[in-house]
Amino acid sequence: MTGTINHELGAEQLRSRIAAELDRTRARTTLLTDAVDETDLMRQHSPIMSPLVWDLAHVGNQEELWLVRDVGGRPAVRHDIDDLYDAFKQPRKDRPSLPLLPPEEARAYLATVRDKVHDLLDRVPFTDRPLVADGFAFGMILQHEQQHDETMLATHQLRSGPAVLGAPPPPEPRSRVPGEVLVPAGPFTMGTSTDPWALDNERPAHTVELPAYVIDAAPVTNGRYREFIADGGYDDPRWWSPAGWRHRTEVELTAPMHWRRDGDGWAYQRFGRWSPVRDDEPVVHVCYFESQAYAAWAGRRLPTEAEWEKAARWTPAPVGPAATRGATRTRPSSTRTWGSATCGRRRWAAIRPAPRRSACTS
Ligand SMILES: [Fe+2]
Repeated sequence: MTGTINHELGAEQLRSRIAAELDRTRARTTLLTDAVDETDLMRQHSPIMSPLVWDLAHVGNQEELWLVRDVGGRPAVRHDIDDLYDAFKQPRKDRPSLPLLPPEEARAYLATVRDKVHDLLDRVPFTDRPLVADGFAFGMILQHEQQHDETMLATHQLRSGPAVLGAPPPPEPRSRVPGEVLVPAGPFTMGTSTDPWALDNERPAHTVELPAYVIDAAPVTNGRYREFIADGGYDDPRWWSPAGWRHRTEVELTAPMHWRRDGDGWAYQRFGRWSPVRDDEPVVHVCYFESQAYAAWAGRRLPTEAEWEKAARWTPAPVGPAATRGATRTRPSSTRTWGSATCGRRRWAAIRPAPRRSACTS
């Protein structure tokens, strides 16, 4: 691997970075699992999620398999639980009935594994061996635990019972990102061959050619989505694919999950607490079919993965009111250019083909 951030760090700096990330991530895991009692940890809160205590011990088991045993070549801590915490062998629906480690035993197991990993981290040489080059396996395990933290956060959102998580409201944005951007036709590099901690599904870097398209500069907001609802979007099969309409009918979708009517408006349940829906927040907890229907109603469509990645890889030049307020105009990081967003007729949908108008290019 060449030209990577980690490669430029010395081994000691890399060890420090990994150790800090291990601690930061484990603090989050601990917060999410200490927030509820033992009964709650063992319970399955949704058929599509694991009991939180399964996630907890699974995180430790993956860390043991990859770092203690594979990287360190050290004896197993708990060989007997490998099958229990193998996500390929144990479907989520079956996990509550497994003989899982009780919470205290799971916590002690994680602590034992983590002690061994810190000891290993102090000694391991970062050679060219693929598992250890640039600290790859450590990065992979860190990302794995962070992914399970996201999963556990989703379980908390689906959990019923008294609220146990809280967070201050997000800060007000320093600037709004209005409108849309034109992404010109041409090739771009998708994926990576150099990011040292990238997983195999992001490799290798390869060239993808795309036609021009226009994409919103920011996610669809609750406010815009409420317009779709108010316009009868959930009651009009024109906006839904056949499969989407079947799903909408079968499960009786009428609004995003966790929304309910509140007088003339809407309220939203966030980790067990209800509050008014904020129009300027991105809409969340809508499924693929709802997103597809919204985009069709708005005269757009959802972006493909390649279109999303190409748009996300470059910083668009500010357009419209932001530019006139003297906002920084950021140069694209390639020779390709971004166009003006002022050619959009409707400004709040996902994506649409680029119009053939010269006024739309800059
Ligand atoms: Fe996992």
